[in-house]
Amino acid sequence: MRILLTGSKGQVGSCLRERFPENWELIASDSQTLNITDAHNVLNMVKTFEPDMIINAAGYTKVDAAETDSDKAFAVNATGTLNLAQAAQSIGARLIHLSTEQVFDGHHHVVLTENMAPNPANIYGHSKLAGELLALNAHVETAVIRTSWVYSEHGHNFVKIMLQKGMEAPTIRVVDDQIGCPTYAGDLAEAIIRLAELKSSPRGIFHFAGSQQMSWADFAQRIFIEAAKLDDRYGKVKVERIATADYKSAAKRPEFGILDSRTLQNILQQPVTDTPLSQVVSKLLK
Ligand SMILES: NC(=O)c1ccc[n+]([C@@H]2O[C@H](COP(=O)([O-])OP(=O)(O)OC[C@H]3O[C@@H](n4cnc5c(N)ncnc54)[C@H](OP(=O)(O)O)[C@@H]3O)[C@@H](O)[C@H]2O)c1
Repeated sequence: MRILLTGSKGQVGSCLRERFPENWELIASDSQTLNITDAHNVLNMVKTFEPDMIINAAGYTKVDAAETDSDKAFAVNATGTLNLAQAAQSIGARLIHLSTEQVFDGHHHVVLTENMAPNPANIYGHSKLAGELLALNAHVETAVIRTSWVYSEHGHNFVKIMLQKGMEAPTIRVVDDQIGCPTYAGDLAEAIIRLAELKSSPRGIFHFAGSQQMSWADFAQRIFIEAAKLDDRYGKVKVERIATADYKSAAKRPEFGILDSRTLQNILQQPVTDTPLSQVVSKLLK
């Protein structure tokens, strides 16, 4: 199978590159080699390489910055996704595209299934929802995977930030009233690969997230517990649990962003299980 991967230097893109089956031919692109907002270049690349599948791991992921940079957020997350869907459609390739739990506002404190009506609370969520709709309308062979709270040993993420902050200050203030499921990018990459391997080419929207529900403060606490096993200094770090109202951020975030992953897990030949947080923390502290 020949795959065109976009955003290959991001968290999910990097984890995908590390896990691709050896017998797959991978064309890995990044923002320098393929800017997905450039429809002409996207179409050229797709027509030149004729992939069987495009996996879109590229995205504008700066949730707070999107509030003041909405043009860029929409250019990448909406128009860029449409460009890929139209190019995939033109050669009959499948498209796997990534989206977010932030298409929901999370006000209702219920576990989020694929058939629930989205209602984003911020610009990033609106741009991602637009991307989902544009791709699904442009190309039937599209699978959208919504995920949440992605972390990994690569790129920018909450685990890295906590490990860094824990070395800079004795007490870290962390929001305790937003609930979500941290998702290891490596587990998401496994799910994407298993979905790609299915001959039945499932289409539509699927949810995939880690299995543990927690607040950001719980997550921070767990990170420090794991880190303290490798470096005593982390044992002294205190997590001060605060309310969203006491934490300044430009974008609103879902209060309750728990994605129900059962539909996707059930169609994969082998469900994906959580990689322990300890493994990622230990890679980061090496
Ligand atoms: N991170 C999360 O917590 C999270 C949660 C839910 C859903 N998601 C979704 O999952 C996907 C992957 O997330 P991630 O955490 O792996 O993101 P990431 O680490 O920020 O990587 C995104 C990649 O997209 C590239 N990119 C940005 N604009 C581009 C453009 N115009 N053309 C081509 N590439 C471009 C970036 O390259 P540059 O760095 O060179 O700009 C970056 O390498 C995204 O669709 C995101 O919306 C992420």
